Amino acid sequence: MKIIGLDDEKCIKCLDCVRECPSGLFIKPPTELGEKRRVIFEDPYEGCIECGHCIAVCPTDAIIYDDADDYLEYEGMKDPSSLIDFETLNKYLRARRSIRNYKDKEVSDEQIKTILEAMRYAPSARNDQAWKYIIVKDPGKIDKIRQSVIKMLALLRKLIKYKAVIKYFLPKSVKEMITEPRTKVSIEDFFKRIDEGEDDVFYNAPVVLVTYTEHEGDMALNDAGITLTHGMLAAQALGLGTCWIGYAQEALNRNKEVKEAIGISKDSNVNGVLIIGHPDVKYHRAPPRKTLDVKWV
Ligand SMILES: Cc1cc2nc3c(=O)[nH]c(=O)nc-3n(C[C@H](O)[C@H](O)[C@H](O)COP(=O)(O)O)c2cc1C
Repeated sequence: MKIIGLDDEKCIKCLDCVRECPSGLFIKPPTELGEKRRVIFEDPYEGCIECGHCIAVCPTDAIIYDDADDYLEYEGMKDPSSLIDFETLNKYLRARRSIRNYKDKEVSDEQIKTILEAMRYAPSARNDQAWKYIIVKDPGKIDKIRQSVIKMLALLRKLIKYKAVIKYFLPKSVKEMITEPRTKVSIEDFFKRIDEGEDDVFYNAPVVLVTYTEHEGDMALNDAGITLTHGMLAAQALGLGTCWIGYAQEALNRNKEVKEAIGISKDSNVNGVLIIGHPDVKYHRAPPRKTLDVKWV
């Protein structure tokens, strides 16, 4: 989206755009006595982050811009709190679960597109929206990712086996992980279930959504967290279930070959992996959470 300027006929000089623009690109030049007040848009250093806040805030739709996408205008926009009450939202958020049981039922492309559309409206640092997505539905390709996870965990299993000897040569974080007794138990459990033919990586979900960026960005992981959260909440509204699969994210980032097999370049950064399917489980209550650790200063 490129902001071109203001339509002088429509502009009522309310200065809302001047107050709203995070880059300070709308200005009201000083006027001489008798001269009409003006608001102009100036961006000599390309500081516009294309957040569209000027379009959103202008009461008379005076912002001229270039974009294939049109803005959205609907009832409730001026007062989002009128769209949903807090109790309903809170119930909705608490009802979300990471789903690990799926029906053998296809998720339609229409449903996936609807979820992606909701993800599009996630906030991102500097409004970069640098996230890219791969929707993996081909069972062969899903299996390639699954096998890369199994391979990664098999390596971890080996590290645990020889931990007494190798722990001195490993980075602190890996050393802590492999010496933690729980890691050994969960890895052994994982391989037991894999040996029994269970899909302990993707839980037989029919869709694996991978989000990645072509270049390393400081905030890319944060951005991915938000866009995937939009996706999880959107999927829930369609009656679908999701689960973030951190293991697959880690495995993909270590496996250039599998990255290329699913159509992303070997140097790209995988920032999140989400499975999507029809839940085959119903929950009766929301589990407790840890009490908040908050300091007020
Ligand atoms: C970044 C991230 C990575 C995760 N990785 C996995 C994973 O590899 N496998 C898995 O079964 N669940 C994974 N989860 C799901 C968490 O275990 C789950 O969110 C947590 O237990 C809380 O449960 P809830 O999502 O139902 O509230 C992941 C969640 C997040 C946010």
